[in-house]
Amino acid sequence: MLSSSFLLILTISCTLNPTFFVNGDINLIQKTCKSTKFYDLCLSSLQSDATSREADTKGLAIIMAKLALANATSINSFLSSNLLVKNTNDALMKNTLKECANKYSAAGTALQDSVQELRSELYDYAYMHVMAAADYPNACRNTFKRYPKLVYPPEIAAREDGLKRICDVLMEIIDGLVF
Ligand SMILES: *[C@@H]1O[C@H](CO)[C@@H](O)[C@H](O)[C@H]1NC(C)=O
Repeated sequence: MLSSSFLLILTISCTLNPTFFVNGDINLIQKTCKSTKFYDLCLSSLQSDATSREADTKGLAIIMAKLALANATSINSFLSSNLLVKNTNDALMKNTLKECANKYSAAGTALQDSVQELRSELYDYAYMHVMAAADYPNACRNTFKRYPKLVYPPEIAAREDGLKRICDVLMEIIDGLVF
């Protein structure tokens, strides 16, 4: 008897409030993304993950942090592949790319930390690690600048920009969790 009336209440709740089981929905995703500088990027990124519709703001931050991590990891793979080395004897270019790969690997580690910290609701730490992840690419760019002979490849510049944008969005979402 008790369980059937509970079921009835649950059914009514669900009918009256379709979001009864989900903390978030497309409205929360839109609202969250409106608080960021890159609305379209934020929206398309979150919508690429089916679980974002069931996520609260903390969950959305975790999804975005995982996307940032995937982004850093793919840049690391790209740099490690040496696709940008046309001349196999170009040791300076190879070394520089290796250095850059290490920086993006460090960015990935920082983002991995931020995922854990978001789960533990250690938002200050999560924010700092995302900030660090957005800063590591600068070290790569500066390494290229050190050698006038080397041109900073536009393929890296575009990826650097992409990762920084995702980190920007993520930091703004975390901001919303803190305040
Ligand atoms: C990395 O992020 C950028 C957006 O800032 C996106 O265009 C690109 O497709 C992402 N790459 C991966 C592998 O996630």
